[in-house]
Amino acid sequence: MKTTNRTSRAPVGRFREKTIVLGVTGSIAAYKAVSLARRLMAEGAVVQVVMTRNAQRFVGPLTFQELTGRPVGTDLFAPSDAVPASMGMPHLALAESADLLVIAPASAHCVAKLAHGLADDLLSTLALAAECPVVVAPAMDGGMWTHPAVCSNVLTLRQRGVTVLEPEVGPLASGRTGKGRLPEEDAILSAIAGALHPVKDFKGQRVLITAGPTQEALDPVRFISNRSSGKMGWALAEAARDRGAGVVLIAGPTALPPVPNVTVVPVVTSEDMRKEVITRFVDSDVLIMAAAVADFRPAGSSPGKIPKGRGPRTLALEPTPDILMDLPSRRAGQFVVGFSAETGDLVERARAKLRRKALDMIVANNVTEPGAGFGTETNRATLLDRAGRCDALPLMSKLELAHRILDAVLEFPTDRLQKGGTS
Ligand SMILES: Cc1cc2nc3c(=O)[nH]c(=O)nc-3n(C[C@H](O)[C@H](O)[C@H](O)COP(=O)(O)O)c2cc1C
Repeated sequence: MKTTNRTSRAPVGRFREKTIVLGVTGSIAAYKAVSLARRLMAEGAVVQVVMTRNAQRFVGPLTFQELTGRPVGTDLFAPSDAVPASMGMPHLALAESADLLVIAPASAHCVAKLAHGLADDLLSTLALAAECPVVVAPAMDGGMWTHPAVCSNVLTLRQRGVTVLEPEVGPLASGRTGKGRLPEEDAILSAIAGALHPVKDFKGQRVLITAGPTQEALDPVRFISNRSSGKMGWALAEAARDRGAGVVLIAGPTALPPVPNVTVVPVVTSEDMRKEVITRFVDSDVLIMAAAVADFRPAGSSPGKIPKGRGPRTLALEPTPDILMDLPSRRAGQFVVGFSAETGDLVERARAKLRRKALDMIVANNVTEPGAGFGTETNRATLLDRAGRCDALPLMSKLELAHRILDAVLEFPTDRLQKGGTS
């Protein structure tokens, strides 16, 4: 039974179609939960905030209500708009609706209540009733965090399977410096993603992914490039990371933020990308070439800016080296996935590329189709592999497609993948 209306939300981000109950407790860091709620929503989650009485002394429920568009749960006994009476008792209905409960910030008091199973308000009672994963992000003074009672409560929760994050070290509200600050948002989001994806079927795998466009210089200020946004490669990196892989993302210039817990290697030109792929390929188990690497570059690049009046009327181009064609001689059992962005004859061209480049799998998409291709949040692709598979997938979010690609990789029987990596 889900209490949320999900139809108005775009299906994007790591937490799309997930209902996340965000518990906020009486910590000086309670204001940071406002920004966390925004990030969760930006990643597709429906966010239901539940506040303790003391949390409301730091931040008003109205802030969260306006931000999330949902009434905030504050009282175990008072009828709440957060849960219509028809849904039954609020704590049970909220617990049932949650795909995940995150408590951020979690006060020392809250940690103690969770550890001891106390249930004297809405948040602690729903935490007892919830069967979903629970992530706790503590925030407190350094002396409180190291107090034996708190240490013992944290240990109890961890032994019970609750993800309790380590607080950050830094300046504290008391004026001292120590360990007690609310963990960084990215760390909380990563922990949530990890808890929502308990299946670590890529554990031990080293996945190398390329993403984004390349830029090929004409002179120091001008270049030719393409419309790739990098979103497909980013989604693949997040999906592989959440499934337990060690991920290296070789990324051309994009406007996307770094991916937490992924090694991002920035490159500019196709030649930079070629060098990085070849260097890092030997230490990888899977290579996924989602980047839109330039096929052509200016035949010569001017060291100084070409003056307006003296610019060439025609641009001489030369082909760039084909990264995938350079790989076969270096392959040692790695699984190689290519991408084929086409504007017509999709399957035939993709199949020819699969054979010509000795790929294990190719993801073909028609970039002229609505909702598919560059810059969009969604994609529609056909998966082909060297065993003859040809699956035309429906339109879906890039993250979902990333998971479908990874599923398909794991279905393929190769020694390297089945041994769980080479290390
Ligand atoms: C100004 C102020 C700041 C506080 N900050 C924290 C904090 O960061 N972490 C914490 O564990 N307790 C903090 N406390 C103490 C808690 O508010 C107190 O333990 C309260 O009982 C927690 O209630 P709750 O967990 O039900 O929200 C603070 C208290 C005050 C007055």
